[in-house]
Amino acid sequence: MPEEFKKLPTHIAIIMDGNGRWATARGLPRAEGHRVGTEAVRRVVRSCIDFGIKYLTIYAFSTENWARPQEEVNGLMMLLETVVVNELDELHREGVRIQHIGRLESLPAGLGAKIKKAVEVTRNNQRLVFTIAWNYGGRDEIICAIQNIIKDGIAPENVTEELVSGYLFTSNSPDPELLIRTSGEQRLSNFLLWQTAYSEWVVTPVFWPDFDKEDLRKAIIEYGNRDRRFGKVSSK
Ligand code: FPP
Repeated sequence: MPEEFKKLPTHIAIIMDGNGRWATARGLPRAEGHRVGTEAVRRVVRSCIDFGIKYLTIYAFSTENWARPQEEVNGLMMLLETVVVNELDELHREGVRIQHIGRLESLPAGLGAKIKKAVEVTRNNQRLVFTIAWNYGGRDEIICAIQNIIKDGIAPENVTEELVSGYLFTSNSPDPELLIRTSGEQRLSNFLLWQTAYSEWVVTPVFWPDFDKEDLRKAIIEYGNRDRRFGKVSSK
């Protein structure tokens, strides 16, 4: 771990925001903001590997994003398809394990299968677990967990925090210690509602397509300077 980091988070979650404003400010179509945004995704995956981060989760398409214009939704679906197909070999070579959280059903024909293939091919990789939240909603995830807990006939007294965590889409990842949101907005937008209960927030004004290794470095340094108390008093 670089010496300037007092603490290194195991898991970083990112709400990538500001693609549309980045494009509009340059007189470009919103789709161009999303396209350049995928380059930022590539930079951040690389930077996480360089910094020794073990888990990276990005919020790329929410259950609410279906309400965007059809053309934008189609463009986003095509971008994901391009990423999971074209980047698969390199990510696999780099030891990246790809995971998906959200609902695969209702995605365009073929996309679900391509996501499943990327997950399957990389399942034994251990350098970085890279989770893409796509057609994901935090409330939807909790509803799904409750439904499965009931279906499994779990007795009420056996419903614990650990049990619920194990029924979420993220069951094999630790909770993120650091949550980054770009473009200055300060809200959770239905992302990892349960898992971010004690995450430290770093909000940066940078629009997602401009986010780079230096911005990630600054966020990790800021996280390292935080006093995490988990509701208790400071240990310092
Ligand atoms: C938020 O910006 C961004 C999104 C809803 C999409 C994020 C998608 C990408 C970065 C590209 C695809 C990623 C992968 C992994 C294929 P916004 O459009 O809400 O921006 P605005 O608030 O400025 O309008």
